[in-house]
Amino acid sequence: MPLAAYDLTGRSAFVTGAAGGIGRATAVLLAEAGAAVHCADLDEKGLRETLELITAAGGEAHLHPLDVTDRNRVRAAVAAAGDLDVLAAVAGIMHSSTVLETADEDLDRVLAVNFKGVLYACQEVARTLVARGAPGSLITMASGAVDSAGPGLLCYSAAKAAVVQLTKTLATELGPHGIRVNAVAPGWIRTPMTARHDSEQQHRAEATMARVAPLGRVGEPDEVAHTVLHLASDASSFMTGQILRPNGGVAMPW
Ligand code: NAI
Repeated sequence: MPLAAYDLTGRSAFVTGAAGGIGRATAVLLAEAGAAVHCADLDEKGLRETLELITAAGGEAHLHPLDVTDRNRVRAAVAAAGDLDVLAAVAGIMHSSTVLETADEDLDRVLAVNFKGVLYACQEVARTLVARGAPGSLITMASGAVDSAGPGLLCYSAAKAAVVQLTKTLATELGPHGIRVNAVAPGWIRTPMTARHDSEQQHRAEATMARVAPLGRVGEPDEVAHTVLHLASDASSFMTGQILRPNGGVAMPW
């Protein structure tokens, strides 16, 4: 670790969505930076793969198979994890349907996973930090979808907009406790989530990024994980209530 501010040795992080994509890249990177990482996800097989990656690199990982929409399971996992310093609430799902075709159950599921799942993790981890009188860093996963609108994205972007408001509100409430709360809003990242789009959608996204992103390409999970590491570590000690956008420069104001 060349820079001490990024060293997480002796710290403990809880990462949701750690079985794949951005969550796995985050868990692996935080472990590389020295943190003991508590990996939570629905996908037990994916969690075991993440554990293998971390332990093979000499890191420390613990697994918590759970659904982030189950508050009791989240509370129990946070309690079992012991003294935490960092939360990266990454778990999320994509859903696409037009407003006119959106069914109640679709809206409920997307809000449950993408908003309530983040809320529960933030509440449970923050309560333990406040009770211990410990500083900490909470990181939520928003999306570039909060900066724009597009057909089919109401459920997803509304849930992510709620995550942004949660992040800013919590930052004001927890700042006096020395707890920082920031959001990451990635652009199009190559993960299992985006790989589930059909090939035409993927092709269109890559072509769009080539055209509108100053960096001219889609992103990789590791590039988002490095933004999370920055927010998790003392390198960002004066940042709270912010939204960082690893997105290749899309939607920059020009
Ligand atoms: P992914 O689908 O590759 O990984 C998401 C992980 O969350 C999976 O391991 C999945 O099992 C887990 N998960 C889903 N529902 C869960 C639940 N109810 N309880 C526990 N775990 C659950 O997705 P990706 O691309 O890595 O996305 C991670 C986060 O980043 C999501 O919140 C997503 O909305 C956000 N994001 C992704 C972008 C992209 O282009 N990939 C762009 C902007 C935001």
